[in-house]
Amino acid sequence: MRVDIITLLPQIFEKVFDESVLGSAVKNGLIDIVMHQFRDYGDGRHKTVDDTPFGGGPGMVFKPSPLVNCIRDVRKMSIPAPVIGLTPQGVSFNQDLVKELAQFDRIILVCGRYEGFDERIIHEFDFQLSIGDYVLTGGEIAAMTVVDAVSRMIPGTVGCQDSVIQDSFYEGMLDHPQYTRPSIWEGLEVPEVLQNGNHALINKYRRSRSLLTTSVSRPDVFATCDLSDSDKEIFQELIDSSSSE
Ligand code: ADE
Repeated sequence: MRVDIITLLPQIFEKVFDESVLGSAVKNGLIDIVMHQFRDYGDGRHKTVDDTPFGGGPGMVFKPSPLVNCIRDVRKMSIPAPVIGLTPQGVSFNQDLVKELAQFDRIILVCGRYEGFDERIIHEFDFQLSIGDYVLTGGEIAAMTVVDAVSRMIPGTVGCQDSVIQDSFYEGMLDHPQYTRPSIWEGLEVPEVLQNGNHALINKYRRSRSLLTTSVSRPDVFATCDLSDSDKEIFQELIDSSSSE
């Protein structure tokens, strides 16, 4: 997959894309990240990319021409790709969107800064994406989040693809808790069922913890989950055991 990132701060991506899982994916050619400094498209000797807002108010706004000229050039550099503006006004990023984006062979991410973009450039985006209901100082950290989450879906990026499938939100549900040695730590014991080697029981236990955590911590997510017959049975057992306690 090729990811083009349009930003004023290409240097802040270096460490994130050079190290660990993402770094290996880049080195192994599973993901090709191409940075574009859009100040190169700025106006005049100072390469100006922003200006004060019409009507007054704080901050600066990205001028339309430098950004649009950059986006149009980047679009033409390779195969067709959706252009995604990272803004707090965008659609909410979630695991379903991660999976959808991972289907593309190329995506283009545009990072905002300052008070935002001149509204007239919005039609250059195929859509806008927000990583949460809060305002960041710019789209760069949002772009890193998108690249990180999407690249995990590309087979080979994460050593064990099973772990991706079992992750929180992959199948709509939150992940079950995990434990490792020692089996007793500060008086707290790892649940017996995880230590007895019975994989049918272990799977059932883990699924029941997923159902419980999701229903308690994220009832909004739980309400949208399609429970299988076996999930319904496990969930009923949870309800029965809690009402008999
Ligand atoms: N830029 C500023 N805030 C953002 C957010 N929440 N998501 C994506 N891009 C942003």
